[in-house]
Amino acid sequence: MIKDMRIPNHVAIILDGNGRWAKSKGMPRNYGHTKGSKNLEIICEEAYKMGIEYLTVYAFSTENWNRSEDEVSALMKLLRNYMKTALKTAVKNNMKIRILGDISRLDQDLQDSIKNLVQKTAEHTGLKFQIAINYGGRDEIIRGIKHLAKDIKEERLQAEDINEDIFSNYLDTTGLPDPDLLIRTSGEMRLSNFLLWQLAYTEFYFADVHWPDFNKQELEQAIEKYNLRDRRFGGVREEK
Ligand code: FPP
Repeated sequence: MIKDMRIPNHVAIILDGNGRWAKSKGMPRNYGHTKGSKNLEIICEEAYKMGIEYLTVYAFSTENWNRSEDEVSALMKLLRNYMKTALKTAVKNNMKIRILGDISRLDQDLQDSIKNLVQKTAEHTGLKFQIAINYGGRDEIIRGIKHLAKDIKEERLQAEDINEDIFSNYLDTTGLPDPDLLIRTSGEMRLSNFLLWQLAYTEFYFADVHWPDFNKQELEQAIEKYNLRDRRFGGVREEK
């Protein structure tokens, strides 16, 4: 890693390519998801060691329900297992876990373990780790607008007072800084409905490797590339 590199404060990752990774090894897609979820634990630790404060990942999108029944149930099983082991890891590593997305569509037991995990880690001061589950950027904006409309109707908010900061408070990411760097693995160059509002000024980095192969070196490479770019906010150059 190059010395004196600027470490992005908030990194968001679209975990892509588990299926292709498994296929390339002659294995079923669900094997790729299992490997992908293990890799996530490793990258969480590496990210924090590097000085990244916020890490946000896209684990299950609102569109992922359209996958085969077998794959959806395998992903739900993985999430279930993850919520159990994550509590131990989060305590060991002082991680604060938060969920983005509408979890009301998940099975009750999974909702309960998610809530437990969020509650038990709420006071932790290490890596702030956001997992997007049943998340879609458009869905998040619509849910936010409905909430905001209710507040206007019930006179807690005046329409003329709405601005970007106020609207941000109605999103799942309320209180989080916007991502500085977005990484998508597997060579695809799409946003796939991830953090549509929050990525307005974010730098994008596309890695060719599939998610299960995205390791510490790949993360360092993404940060090196991020350092080579001039970050511009509407033409104003950020202080180096
Ligand atoms: C993309 O690969 C990955 C997903 C749809 C799910 C990501 C999920 C995990 C890494 C595991 C579960 C997460 C947690 C937090 C435990 P893909 O299936 O789209 O791959 P493909 O594009 O090659 O088909």
